[in-house]
Amino acid sequence: MSKLLVAIDGPAGSGKSSVAQAVAERLGLANLNTGATYRAVALVALREGLDLDDGAALATVGGDVDLAADGVFHGGEHIPEDALRTPEVAAAASRVSTHPELREVLVERQRAAARKAQAAGGAVVEGRDVGTVVLPEAELKVFLSASPEERARRRALQTGREEEFERIRKAMHTRDKRDSEREASPLRPAPGAVVLDTTTLDLERVVARVVELARERQGIL
Ligand code: DC
Repeated sequence: MSKLLVAIDGPAGSGKSSVAQAVAERLGLANLNTGATYRAVALVALREGLDLDDGAALATVGGDVDLAADGVFHGGEHIPEDALRTPEVAAAASRVSTHPELREVLVERQRAAARKAQAAGGAVVEGRDVGTVVLPEAELKVFLSASPEERARRRALQTGREEEFERIRKAMHTRDKRDSEREASPLRPAPGAVVLDTTTLDLERVVARVVELARERQGIL
């Protein structure tokens, strides 16, 4: 069996994480979530009261971050998933991710994690710039999209805060704008990426399609 690398990119609420997790499980590959590295730096910066606009200080924190299939680590310590998933950390992660100095450091950590996972059998790596910057050599690159309303609806359902749909939609819009307009590695499909609009597709259909594409790629590896 070939040691496949699959890159899955897309905006918040495009279904990236659910799809990456399910595809990794079905193909027996590791699942690496690059967004967790930006969230980890944001969390540490908030806890330590660092200036979120100090790229050099953030890059130093990034140097202590490690990524693996079982999560993200800072200074060797595992960071619990729920600490990374707060709205404050999400907003701060989007801000810190605009710094090229930090991105450079984290991209190296992400590549190291991907190389290790690939040697162990292959990986599904998800994020915003995996196909364009982190792993342009990935055998399969997928870019997931969905309408802004649908993405906000999914996120509201996921967080159980349906009454907050409007607030979530606005926060998502701000984050999308920053992620796609930043100069360093803006969010966009990589050359050769398969673009899937998931607005009207349920999770199972998207997963089945990505698994099918991955098997096709494995066949030709
Ligand atoms: O996927 P996520 O919501 O966990 O990502 C958190 C933030 O990190 C998001 O605002 C964009 C940024 N990010 C990035 O710039 N590049 C990546 N490869 C992954 C995430």
